[in-house]
Amino acid sequence: MSANIAIVLGSGLGSLADAVTIEREVPFADAGMPSSKVAGHAGRFLLGECFGLKLWVMQGRVHLYEGHAAYDVAAGVRWLAGQGVSRLILTNAAGSLRTGFSPGEWMMLSDHLNLTGTSPLEGGANFIDMSEVYSLPWRERMRDCARKLMMPLHEGVYAGLRGPQYETPAEIRMLQVMGADAVGMSTVLEALQAKALGMEVLGFSCLTNWGAGLSDAGLDHAEVLHTGQSAASQMMRLLEVALADG
Ligand code: HPA
Repeated sequence: MSANIAIVLGSGLGSLADAVTIEREVPFADAGMPSSKVAGHAGRFLLGECFGLKLWVMQGRVHLYEGHAAYDVAAGVRWLAGQGVSRLILTNAAGSLRTGFSPGEWMMLSDHLNLTGTSPLEGGANFIDMSEVYSLPWRERMRDCARKLMMPLHEGVYAGLRGPQYETPAEIRMLQVMGADAVGMSTVLEALQAKALGMEVLGFSCLTNWGAGLSDAGLDHAEVLHTGQSAASQMMRLLEVALADG
């Protein structure tokens, strides 16, 4: 039996998969997908039980900055849809652009800016409605659960860029003016694809660092992974409570 819910794990959040009692494992290659070569991105689908329910976990993802096309970046979402998944939780690591949204905390996506300059829907007249990509009822449920757990859960706009380099301080200031609260290099294309397939979508950014120029510290991938790993347990707790009764 398959499952109708899936969680995509971002950089450093792979440990969330440790909580899954694995029933089936499908490497990306067996699903016809390219594998990611980036540290912190394993590249497999797991079907199993977690939080008392059956779910799919996509551990690792494919990025534009590795040279893949937008259509391929979203291949995992199409594969999950083929397995019967209709509810998708996307997680990522992101830089914070907003005072008060501190590294180590989580931001739930209220909306996004697709600044990658591309789309997995290219090639056809796919004029889909993007006015509510991230499900409002699902967000409300998460907000309530976070409050009960006394877990800080911010909400804001995620800017998705191509990367692979981190931003310059001038780019960070530009993103702030554009209305972004966090910046990363994933999620937007997957969310777009999921929306086009009629899925209910939710997104969470683990804020792993301040955007360039907003603090004295430089940016470093190892630091991003480390902060992601320590924040993963908070997200586990939230999902456990929020998904427990469907
Ligand atoms: N910028 C872009 N992507 C990121 C960042 C960042 O500061 N942190 C983690 N992923």
